[in-house]
Amino acid sequence: MRHGNFEPDPDHRINWRIVSHLLPYLRESRSRVLFALLCLLLAKGAILVIPFLLKDLVDALDGRNVQALAPTVLFGLVVAYGGARFANVFFGELRDTVFGRVTERAMRRIGLQVFRHVHALDLEFHLNRRTGGLARDIERGTTGISFLMRFFVFNIVPTLFEIAMVVGILLFNYGISFAVITLVSVAAYGLFSLRATEWRTQFVREMNEADSASNTRAVDSLLNFETVKYFTNEEFEAQRYDSELRKWEQARRRNRLSLFGLNGGQALIIAMSQTAMIGLAAWQVSNNDISLGDFILINQFMIQLFMPLGFLGFVFREIKGSLANIEKMFELLAVKPTIVDTPGAPALLVTRGEVSFDRVSFAYDPARSILDDVSFSIGAGQKVAVVGASGAGKSTLVKLLFRFYDPDSGSIHIDGQDISRVSQASLRKSIGIVPQDTVLFNDSILENVRYGNPDATDTQVWEAIRLAHLDNFITSLPKGADTRVGERGLKLSGGEKQRVSIARAILKRPPIMVFDEATSSLDSKSEQVILAALREIARDHTSLVIAHRLSTVVDADLILVLQHGRVVEQGSHQALLETNGKYAELWRAQLRQRDSPAVIQDN
Ligand SMILES: Nc1ncnc2c1ncn2[C@@H]1O[C@H](COP(=O)(O)OP(=O)(O)O)[C@@H](O)[C@H]1O
Ligand SMILES: [Mg+2]
Repeated sequence: MRHGNFEPDPDHRINWRIVSHLLPYLRESRSRVLFALLCLLLAKGAILVIPFLLKDLVDALDGRNVQALAPTVLFGLVVAYGGARFANVFFGELRDTVFGRVTERAMRRIGLQVFRHVHALDLEFHLNRRTGGLARDIERGTTGISFLMRFFVFNIVPTLFEIAMVVGILLFNYGISFAVITLVSVAAYGLFSLRATEWRTQFVREMNEADSASNTRAVDSLLNFETVKYFTNEEFEAQRYDSELRKWEQARRRNRLSLFGLNGGQALIIAMSQTAMIGLAAWQVSNNDISLGDFILINQFMIQLFMPLGFLGFVFREIKGSLANIEKMFELLAVKPTIVDTPGAPALLVTRGEVSFDRVSFAYDPARSILDDVSFSIGAGQKVAVVGASGAGKSTLVKLLFRFYDPDSGSIHIDGQDISRVSQASLRKSIGIVPQDTVLFNDSILENVRYGNPDATDTQVWEAIRLAHLDNFITSLPKGADTRVGERGLKLSGGEKQRVSIARAILKRPPIMVFDEATSSLDSKSEQVILAALREIARDHTSLVIAHRLSTVVDADLILVLQHGRVVEQGSHQALLETNGKYAELWRAQLRQRDSPAVIQDN
């Protein structure tokens, strides 16, 4: 496929530069971030004081000093200890509370950015996307961002700072040996974690992919609910879903086993260095080199050091996971739409509403041509009809007119302006469409019609409903226009959906109208009524009508017969009949069908 295709590269390495994408969000809430950092400093300060208080307490209580002890000193130490403990927790909580706003704001911004971006991508992307998987990727991505922001600011840097402080204190008070043990074990721990986590990333990614794939499968299956029922393929669907789930389960298992390896290794390093330090401290106490209080202090620092270090390992792991998630989302953000406005593209100015196709050729896939050298023009206020077999390329003409794709050669003009040089928004605002297949929002009928013009008043919406002959149907409903139409409009019949779609187009009232087999789902009586209404609306409008029943286009100013992407005949109904070619043949075939009593016309 040559159009923008969203396929992530599985061997892609994690991109730490993603972190730089988060800086603007931190900068934006600078005062909150600074306040949170202050809380962090206070919490860390409190925890660094605790070992000293403990040492003083132990030394004060030591049998050799306890007689000389003033009770107020003991009391003061105990209170200070309690205060430090409380301050540590309190400022930690305060920090999280204050910082929450920053991450939530960032998640909202990024969520919106991704949403807008996905809507800006071209039709081809959406035809290829897997809705369930995409939703999962986005969800994981935004959660990942929040995690990353929180832990990058509050964990990595502060923990490194804490390690430096502890090493400094040990070095200053107890000589080089404790500091060396600490440094060596921290380094070993860090290196091991880094390597092991790097190795584990593949399992995390594998797990995420399996997660997205199973979600894709579930959503796709649920969307096709009816088809599943018609063919009683529930079991088949369940099997397919389960085979995705099995992959997920296996990926989880591998992931967990690798986590076991990582955690085990980390625990071993920590235990070894703790043993070394305790041993050294015990030996020094027994040699009377240091006091019992010092022993407690060293022990306390060690616990305090390895707890955040263990946590750092966890955070690092999670951050790698988050980065893998975020990366998916940024890959999505990096998908460029193939159809873009030229810089500074002016708005389309529709004065008369003339549309012309000039030698347009197009293929979705280079190997198969769909439109071949198609030229025609629709004069202001004219009605041009396109007829031809299914698959001839009729709807493709419409997609090109809306600029969902650019022609491979040739050009399309509206009032002399090349549509590829004006802004897409202005182009699409100027054209109304009743598409071949209408998909509705899961909302009320009224709101679905109003979608044609969100600013329309209720009176205007009702006017459109009346013109589309939807009012009879609505009054027959117990809940009237407030009836919800179900997901994608599945609770309405094909004809009713088409009428909603017609009402929408009427409400939009653009200068150019396109009807792509707009009445194909209506019975011939309703069709005649609606066609009369459409004729009324299309008067003074330029219209392109793709027709299924030739009887609906006999009044067209020009009829094009499309066959295998080529215009094989064109002219008025009368002229084409006189030519006695393809069109005349089709016409006769449809007449026969209509006169045949065996065929039930009303579908
Ligand atoms: N997005 C697409 N990718 C590839 N082929 C497509 C795509 N959309 C339509 N086609 C093919 O292009 C041909 C013309 O389609 P279309 O214009 O919808 O025909 P119709 O004349 O029935 O409206 C069909 O054979 C269809 O299979
Ligand atoms: Mg079509």
